[in-house]
Amino acid sequence: MLKLSVLGSTGSVGSQTLDVLRMYKYKVSTKLLGASKPSEKLKDQVLEFKPEYVYIEKFDGREFYGSKVINGDSIEKLLEVESDLFINAVSGISGIKSTYLLLKAGKKLATANKESIVCLGEILKDELKRVVPIDSEHSAIYQIISSEKGNPINRIVLTASGGPFLYWKKEELEDVSVDEALNHPKWSMGKKITVDSATLLNKGLEVIEAHYLFGFEYDKIDVVVHPESIIHGMVEFADGTFIANMSHPDMRIPISYAIFGGREKLEIKPLNLVELGSLSFYRPDFEKFPLLKLAIECGKRGSIYPVVLTVADEIAVDKFLSGNIKFTQIHSFIEDVVSSVNFPEPKDLLDLFQLIEEIYHKFRH
Ligand SMILES: NC(=O)c1ccc[n+]([C@@H]2O[C@H](COP(=O)([O-])OP(=O)(O)OC[C@H]3O[C@@H](n4cnc5c(N)ncnc54)[C@H](OP(=O)(O)O)[C@@H]3O)[C@@H](O)[C@H]2O)c1
Repeated sequence: MLKLSVLGSTGSVGSQTLDVLRMYKYKVSTKLLGASKPSEKLKDQVLEFKPEYVYIEKFDGREFYGSKVINGDSIEKLLEVESDLFINAVSGISGIKSTYLLLKAGKKLATANKESIVCLGEILKDELKRVVPIDSEHSAIYQIISSEKGNPINRIVLTASGGPFLYWKKEELEDVSVDEALNHPKWSMGKKITVDSATLLNKGLEVIEAHYLFGFEYDKIDVVVHPESIIHGMVEFADGTFIANMSHPDMRIPISYAIFGGREKLEIKPLNLVELGSLSFYRPDFEKFPLLKLAIECGKRGSIYPVVLTVADEIAVDKFLSGNIKFTQIHSFIEDVVSSVNFPEPKDLLDLFQLIEEIYHKFRH
């Protein structure tokens, strides 16, 4: 039996992880489930999967429906959980601490939480190479590279659906509503990543994520807009061969690959290329989506910039979702933060949290 722990089990990736576990209950035992609060959804999951532990960020009780509680103040206790694999499906910068603790302790980690990879990139360079990615593009690249071990690579290509505003004019973006930004054409995801997908900042974070996970320089990581979202990632090898990873968009595929390290049977709609007829590819429009360019620049600058970008984005997306700024101001807000900060580079987790705190303190209001 594989012993598995899922942080962020009540979210979009977390729930889909439990869908996979439901199919493979005879192979996997759930040691821990985790969320930010003691919600009804978490209660139902705990009653169904009966994990030994439950992580609840803000909760004072010692037990939750029969499971022992670890909370935000005792997060180090995660290391006591006897788990063969931890999955981090927490959203945003809240996922950083667990990624750090688990990797530092040598635990096996699969993560969808890209923010932790981007923010820990400079201080955990070596450890991050051990992480199994769940983000679909990175899983695609990981799957291709794993089956082509040793073959020299020219570059990798991450695909982007283009988000809900791919065909909108730049001027039309001024009046985008929250509902329109949350209406992703291909993926059903949490709110933060859905807004990031609409600005294309998500793809910028993914470029930085790919740099830290796979060790490729930025000139070897390309982004191609591919609205059908059938190809998730491609690798170009030294002999000119391209290998593409294709499927209907469904997070259960990368999740299952991360859990089992291979291909288990899943009930996925079969891919019919004749029915699809054609696939299309475009260069990203950096003028309409300037956050993609800004993110790649932050990645190339390294040092504090990937962290500043991530935190500024988290604040900006919150402001947009609560109606305090317009969609187009997400870019101007992040650009202002990135161009006005001057902090020393973090050397450890304490420094990193100090940096995050200072950015929050200075720019939240
Ligand atoms: N959704 C996708 O298809 C997808 C695809 C690729 C990558 N990702 C990445 O995967 C991550 C999760 O995305 P999502 O769409 O699944 O997000 P989501 O639906 O918003 O779910 C977030 C999860 O994190 C938990 N959480 C939030 N704050 C927490 C905290 N402080 N401590 C512990 N748990 C906390 C939430 O618990 P509560 O329910 O209690 O709030 C929930 O379980 C993100 O980094 C995203 O970029 C997502």
